[in-house]
Amino acid sequence: MQKYDYLIVGAGLFGCVFAYEANKAGKKCLVIDKRNHVGGNVYCENVDGINVHKYGAHIFHTNDKQIWDYVNQFAEFNNYVNSPVSISKGKLYNLPFNMNTFYQLWGTKTPEEAKKIIESQIKEYGFENPKNLEEQALSLIGKDVYETLIKEYTEKQWGKKATELPAFIIKRLPVRYTFNNNYFSDKYQGIPIGGYNKIIDGLLEGIETKTNVDFFENKEALSKLATKIVYTGKIDEFYNYKFGNLEYRSLRFENTSLEKENHQGNAVVNYNDGDIPYTRIIEHKHFEFGKQKHTVITKEFPEQWTKEKEAYYPINNDENQNKYQQYKALSLQENNIIFGGRLAEYKYYDMHQIIASALQKVKKELN
Ligand code: FDA
Repeated sequence: MQKYDYLIVGAGLFGCVFAYEANKAGKKCLVIDKRNHVGGNVYCENVDGINVHKYGAHIFHTNDKQIWDYVNQFAEFNNYVNSPVSISKGKLYNLPFNMNTFYQLWGTKTPEEAKKIIESQIKEYGFENPKNLEEQALSLIGKDVYETLIKEYTEKQWGKKATELPAFIIKRLPVRYTFNNNYFSDKYQGIPIGGYNKIIDGLLEGIETKTNVDFFENKEALSKLATKIVYTGKIDEFYNYKFGNLEYRSLRFENTSLEKENHQGNAVVNYNDGDIPYTRIIEHKHFEFGKQKHTVITKEFPEQWTKEKEAYYPINNDENQNKYQQYKALSLQENNIIFGGRLAEYKYYDMHQIIASALQKVKKELN
């Protein structure tokens, strides 16, 4: 006799939203996670009173009022607006590419002046059918923005030359002919006051949860506990890598506590230059307008992924997509297992998208 309706493998946003909704509908859930904490990649570690985004900077943004209202049930959000800056060859530039950036690059003061330079550079350096990321970027934005703010950053991020990267990585480049440094153009944006853990704790309230439990270390016994399994781990691992492993890009985070109030004056500063091994420095207190006397910074180093490391960004080339399709075909034949989340779907999802996806799947399941 199964004790639970659902065994939820993974206490990330997908698993927690699924568990919350199922529990609300009267279903009994057990949530397990192999890490020593819940929350998945949105987890924040409290370091001397500062919420440190342990798995990379997380800024909530959405255009969907329903999703915004949903997360606001669990935490109030502050009015943080993401306005990163980028350092290239010792100079600071505003992001995303906007009139401030163009002024810093060329001294242009009007949209006409900036547009003229960009259009003439696209004409001179662009390609009709871009074959790689470099050609694509040159065709979308011209030479100066590409060489100053895109090339070396992207090469560090992916560990490959821009000429060896596929064009599709850059589909569009947001270019604004206004003085607007707001990185996201979504209607709703912010950081939960008290950190993301507050949302996770709200979602899991009253639900049985066990950390430090790896599904694969006790698969048979755990599977017998519930009528159905919601699996949010890696799909290739679920099938014992029978079609080979799906590849990711990994990251390494190096945290430093500093005995000063303000290190860089902004939450996110990108480092474009190729001879600096990290891509950005995050100063976490600025996400919450912190007034502490000290600060915590994190350097983010892109790294080659191996099975022992955290899987961050899926490498969406044809080979991996073909493998994923084979795993997906198997998953569709399962009757009692629901696959969801970024690792089970081998897809980069923003937080609002993962919540929408979990809500959709749980609704379908409970109807
Ligand atoms: P997540 O990875 O969070 O959860 C899966 C859980 O399953 C993990 O806790 C894992 O330990 C567990 N698990 C796996 N295998 C298991 C097993 N065998 N047994 C038990 N447990 C197992 N989005 C956004 O909107 N704004 C932003 O600013 C950012 N920033 C950002 C930065 C970086 C560096 C990354 C990589 C991603 C973002 N995101 C983001 C995306 C965001 O992190 C993402 O949408 C959610 O965390 C996905 O939630 P999931 O539940 O799908 O996965």
